[in-house]
Amino acid sequence: MDKTKRPKFYVTTPIYYVNDVPHIGHAYTTIIADSLARFHRLCGYDVFFLTGTDEHGQKIEKAAIDKGLKPKELADQVVIRFKDLWRALNVSYDFFIRTTEPFHEIGVQKIFNKLKEKGDIYKGVYQGWYCISDENFLAEDVPLESSGEKICPDCGKKAILVSEECYYFRLSAYQERLLKFYADNPNFVRPAGRMNEVVSFVRQGLKDLSITRTTVKWGIPVPGDPPHTIYVWFDALHNYITGIGYDWNMDHFNRFWPADLHLIGKDILRFHAIFWPAFLMAAELPLPRCVFGHGWWLKDETKMSKSKGNVLDPQIILNTFGPDPLRYFLLREIPIGQDGNFSHEGFLHRVNSDLANDLGNLVQRTLAMIWNYFHGKIETADPENDHDLALKEAFHQLKVKVKEHFEDYAINRALEDIWAFINQLNKYLADNEPWKMASIPEKKGRLARILLQTAKGLWGVAYLLYPVMPASAEKIWKMLGEKRPINSIQFQDLDFSLFSASEPTEKPEPLFPRIALQDFLGVETKKEAKMESQEAWISFDEFKRMDFRVAEVIKAERVPGTDKLLKLEINLGEETRTMIAGVADTYSPEELIGKKIVVIANLKPAIIRGIESQAMLLAAEVGGKAIIPFFDRDVPAGAKVK
Ligand code: ME8
Ligand code: MG
Repeated sequence: MDKTKRPKFYVTTPIYYVNDVPHIGHAYTTIIADSLARFHRLCGYDVFFLTGTDEHGQKIEKAAIDKGLKPKELADQVVIRFKDLWRALNVSYDFFIRTTEPFHEIGVQKIFNKLKEKGDIYKGVYQGWYCISDENFLAEDVPLESSGEKICPDCGKKAILVSEECYYFRLSAYQERLLKFYADNPNFVRPAGRMNEVVSFVRQGLKDLSITRTTVKWGIPVPGDPPHTIYVWFDALHNYITGIGYDWNMDHFNRFWPADLHLIGKDILRFHAIFWPAFLMAAELPLPRCVFGHGWWLKDETKMSKSKGNVLDPQIILNTFGPDPLRYFLLREIPIGQDGNFSHEGFLHRVNSDLANDLGNLVQRTLAMIWNYFHGKIETADPENDHDLALKEAFHQLKVKVKEHFEDYAINRALEDIWAFINQLNKYLADNEPWKMASIPEKKGRLARILLQTAKGLWGVAYLLYPVMPASAEKIWKMLGEKRPINSIQFQDLDFSLFSASEPTEKPEPLFPRIALQDFLGVETKKEAKMESQEAWISFDEFKRMDFRVAEVIKAERVPGTDKLLKLEINLGEETRTMIAGVADTYSPEELIGKKIVVIANLKPAIIRGIESQAMLLAAEVGGKAIIPFFDRDVPAGAKVK
């Protein structure tokens, strides 16, 4: 079919900050988006699925400094972690946008200029409080603490006081238009409760928004006014248009804009439901169809977040279980709008009961019987009786319901209904007792029908599960001997008649591992231990930062009033320095004069006994005594040791 004639579906995730590596919360949003993208592809939509990373701003600038890296270096490292995780989770994004890419920066600058020319952006001075963790300007009514500081009401961290010249976006001018837009599009924000929050916030009045900073260097420069950089949220939100071609591939942009669904966590609802539509109104672009603010995964009842340090690393679960149990759990456990508490017990219970028992066993038993009774290949079977037809009809109804739920973004309900059908399949087998027919030759045709009908049911179930568990779905198809790829069949065509068991089925192998809680927790503990020992590692870059040098001892004397300390004067080739060394109980001052030792030359100087020590020597500590390594041949003072 001509691509442009197909309906389109454009879905986005937030672009994640690169201050730290991804966790289950990020995986959650991205898995929802992936499932919806896969579902819409099955339904014949021309899908575009965008994700990426938010790389500018003070939060990243600060995180990079803390790690001794340049912001772009930090971003490059963390981006790999995100991409690796998405690969491991089978995330089928169409494009990964990084806000440091030139096409994005240029697009944002063009929009900035356009709004400035229109008068929607003007120059002023900002004086107020800023939360770096949330990259958010605090409302004026946030009270001062007794310490004279303000605390961010959203994340609880200390805000900083900012006073600088800036450009403002005329947000106040859009208040009425926004309210009218919400009234005309009641499904713009979902779930409905969140729409109410947004409307009442806007009704309270909108102030103009500062959208540039002069004290932050790591950002897109304001065109023609370089000391100013563009506020990271103004920058980031525009990824949704630059990522599909705004300003660099307008045909593609026009094909997919407006977005059908911006999936986000409720933490960033205001930016998406208020600022973003206002920016778009100002730029005279159509508005997205829906912003879905999902709930949070909590750990021990508080939001999992990098800044709180209570995050779970999805990699451990992936290593043990592969991608599908995690995808299934996150989507099944809670309705998308609500919060959920992540516990290992809860996760394992779902995996063992729903995946290993209900589904895995059924596949296993069915295939084992087809293999044992028919050598994997059912050639002929009796016609369908009422029981068999009822199963077929139940599947047809299931398919209709699953579609409705997916279209309503109620993936958990789709899964509930699929599991009701899986249980119906289990009951069908139990009621028909095929194992009792195997030894009765005249029941062979009936036996074949029962197994064939169950296989058809499993084939259909696998198809419907594909958006949520693509790898397992494909595995089930393969085991059933189905050669076609799942996405070669359109959702509307899905029907029992499309599957015939004429191809030999594969010998069954377990689909989902059954893992005991203590083993799983053992994995967690081992991982923690590993993390600790890994923390003891330093990177090569960190090692390279250490400046070890050969130093010749020129003078040595005891530090008065101490037994252990010597004051040394050392020659580093180009310079002489003074240093203190705790070696006096092993070496006399005379012994050391003229010797070449190894020192670290770029250690921060420290005052010891009133003397500034400008280097530190290397020595082995044996029985509380320091033993200095000397060279076995001559080396010049100042030579680098590495
Ligand atoms: O906010 N539970 O990036 P971010 C569920 N760069 N989802 C969670 C979660 C949790 N505990 N923690 C994080 C930013 N998320 C901006 C976005 S968009 C133009 C710019 C998910 O790295 C959820 O989707 O802080 C949340 O909105 C997002 O990660 C925040 O990611
Ligand atoms: Mg955040």
